[in-house]
Amino acid sequence: MVYVDGFAGPGRYSGGEDGSPIIALKALAAHGRKLQSVFEFHFVERDRRTVDALTANIAALRDEGLVVPSTSISVHPRQSVEEAYDQTIAPRLAQTPGAPAFALVDPFGWTGIPMRIMASLMNRSSTELLLNFMFEEINRFLSHKDQPENFDALFGCPDWRKADTLSGHARKNFLHDLYRDQLRRAAGARYVRSFEMLNDRGASDYFLFFATRSLLGLRKMKEAMWRIDPAGGMRFSDATNFNQQVLFEPKPDTRLLRRMIEAQFSGTRATVRDVELFVLEDTAFHAGHYKKVLKEMEGTGHLTPVSPPPKRRAGTYPDPDLTLDFAARHSPLSLTD
Ligand SMILES: C[S@@+](CC[C@H](N)C(=O)[O-])C[C@H]1O[C@@H](n2cnc3c(N)ncnc32)[C@H](O)[C@@H]1O
Repeated sequence: MVYVDGFAGPGRYSGGEDGSPIIALKALAAHGRKLQSVFEFHFVERDRRTVDALTANIAALRDEGLVVPSTSISVHPRQSVEEAYDQTIAPRLAQTPGAPAFALVDPFGWTGIPMRIMASLMNRSSTELLLNFMFEEINRFLSHKDQPENFDALFGCPDWRKADTLSGHARKNFLHDLYRDQLRRAAGARYVRSFEMLNDRGASDYFLFFATRSLLGLRKMKEAMWRIDPAGGMRFSDATNFNQQVLFEPKPDTRLLRRMIEAQFSGTRATVRDVELFVLEDTAFHAGHYKKVLKEMEGTGHLTPVSPPPKRRAGTYPDPDLTLDFAARHSPLSLTD
């Protein structure tokens, strides 16, 4: 398994908080299962002192016994992520085409993370990308006279110029949607979701884009995002489609999910698998959420399983091939609901 952190930072901050490299290494060490794989971590960092701090923090982690033995860790002191990627990381990934990879791209700005690198990552059979799209900075510098080349590279197309005539939400939505669509179109990601991070004034600070070609990757990422405790003061929501924005809360809004499932399936027949794919691909929710909704709908007669096995317990959906008959939306049943 290959883990790439493009803008690694020191690994530990003066206040004692862990940075992304140490978080990743600790997560591996804390993994509950006995893993057979070999792990390879690549940390790229430009600043010399930060590289030294990171190297020392990794050594301290090893001393504490918190680095899994079959792990190789490379810290790349490079002026540019592009250079490190082209010269070292891409050739290494090419040597291990079957190895799953995870790339974290967490820059300070928008330069040095061209769409062509995202395309190269997505070209592999199993890569997950998590990228910090610094919306606030990008938005502020979009019209700067020195930046067109950098924005062409970031978006992988010239269309960002159309944001010139837009302002406020329309501008934000346009830039977000352009980047999302470019991850699909230009980079070849099959699944893209974005998470909007709101600062304490409720303003949009940045977006995290997640991209992958793997349905399993999408499923796991969603589960991970829903598990994050929002208590830290940071609020975030799934913003992939702005007209369906869903705030991540300890208790998911399953009424909203029910409306989405009804809008999609009312008056039709679909298998449990169809519902799961729809929920995973087209909504903010994860696979665990929809079973609760199906159970509720079955309980109120809004869906009926077609020829279920005699021993099936009502309100349970272990068989993905089970066909469900969804009542039409304007049936007397939904009027009395
Ligand atoms: C936002 S911080 C990363 C924080 C890190 N992900 C964490 O969780 O602690 C960005 C880091 O990237 C480094 N950096 C900035 N530009 C870079 C570049 N072109 N190549 C490599 N590293 C760079 C900075 O020195 C800084 O440490």
